[in-house]
Amino acid sequence: MEKRIGILTSGGDCPGLNAAIRGVAKASFGMFDCSIIGIEDGFKGLIYNKHKQMNEFDFSGILTRGGTILGTSRTPYKQMRVIEQDNIDKVRNMVNTYEALKLDCLVTLGGNGTHKNANLLREEGLNVIALPKTIDNDIWGTDITFGFHSAVDIATEVIDRVHTTADSHDRVMLVELMGHKAGWLTLYAGIAGGADIILIPEIPYNEEKVFEALENRRTAGKNFSILAIAEGAMTQEEAMMSKKELKKLRDLTPNYSASYQLASEIAKRTGLETRVTIPGHQQRGGSPSPYDRVLSTTLGTFAAEMIAEKKYGITISIVNNKTKATPLREIAGKLKLVDPNEELISTASKVGVRFGN
Ligand code: F6P
Repeated sequence: MEKRIGILTSGGDCPGLNAAIRGVAKASFGMFDCSIIGIEDGFKGLIYNKHKQMNEFDFSGILTRGGTILGTSRTPYKQMRVIEQDNIDKVRNMVNTYEALKLDCLVTLGGNGTHKNANLLREEGLNVIALPKTIDNDIWGTDITFGFHSAVDIATEVIDRVHTTADSHDRVMLVELMGHKAGWLTLYAGIAGGADIILIPEIPYNEEKVFEALENRRTAGKNFSILAIAEGAMTQEEAMMSKKELKKLRDLTPNYSASYQLASEIAKRTGLETRVTIPGHQQRGGSPSPYDRVLSTTLGTFAAEMIAEKKYGITISIVNNKTKATPLREIAGKLKLVDPNEELISTASKVGVRFGN
């Protein structure tokens, strides 16, 4: 009997989404009789029944394409069960759409929020398979998420490019990278780009230590410094604050940014000339790297195998280089952050990288 597969992408986009969609579709078409229904703009499409029937040609020529052919949006998990002004019961609507489309399963491609929503739908009795996508690499239970390595490539190139101009002008260049609450992207790109100082949320920094590290470089005859700083980086004092207190403090600075804040302190305290580069959404743009194309294809085709075996309520993870199905209930709501005792931290320290602690 034909299997009816719904597929959606949710949360921030990233390179590799289309490659994963293609992986699910091509492998499914190859393995069993199926019909694929694209749910548009994430969970919104499920709530408002916005969908498109897709055919095999829709999945050709998209391996290298950035973004998502299905569109995406953010529907926060904590709002899912809240009835808002439009009086819509979002969860009821999603279940209704799933039933109206006569789906056998729903494949959701997304990050942490998406995994929480996918688990919620599993609890509602839907057959769900999630795929781990995010440039933040912060999904629990998988060593790697697709989109991460493409973002590392982009961020590394940014750091590479500021080196020469930092050198010409004797400046301290701060490169602020995405990653939300996790420092993975900054840690990898920082090491790959040869940053002198790496500041990540998991290792709150002491400003004095940062100034000291910069002074030490100057004294050692290094005329410039590169600082890779995660958007979520915080000082040791900030790390002691409650979420509410920190928000209040940050709200005092319009358009707060970790890098601009620190850059002005560095200039004041050390007299060094500073400049800030924020590549922002470029880190999520463009074609996936070859690594991500392979990873997305691996995860997508594995999802199709799980559909064939009717194994639902799972996310597809990579653990020790092996693809595996992990129960959604085990990972939903958990964040995978950098462990300060991580080998990579000591590796970086051995080549002289300072973490401001
Ligand atoms: O989760 C991916 C991510 O790019 C984070 O690194 C960043 O904090 C956030 O999304 C930005 O979100 P938006 O695209 O909504 O500005």
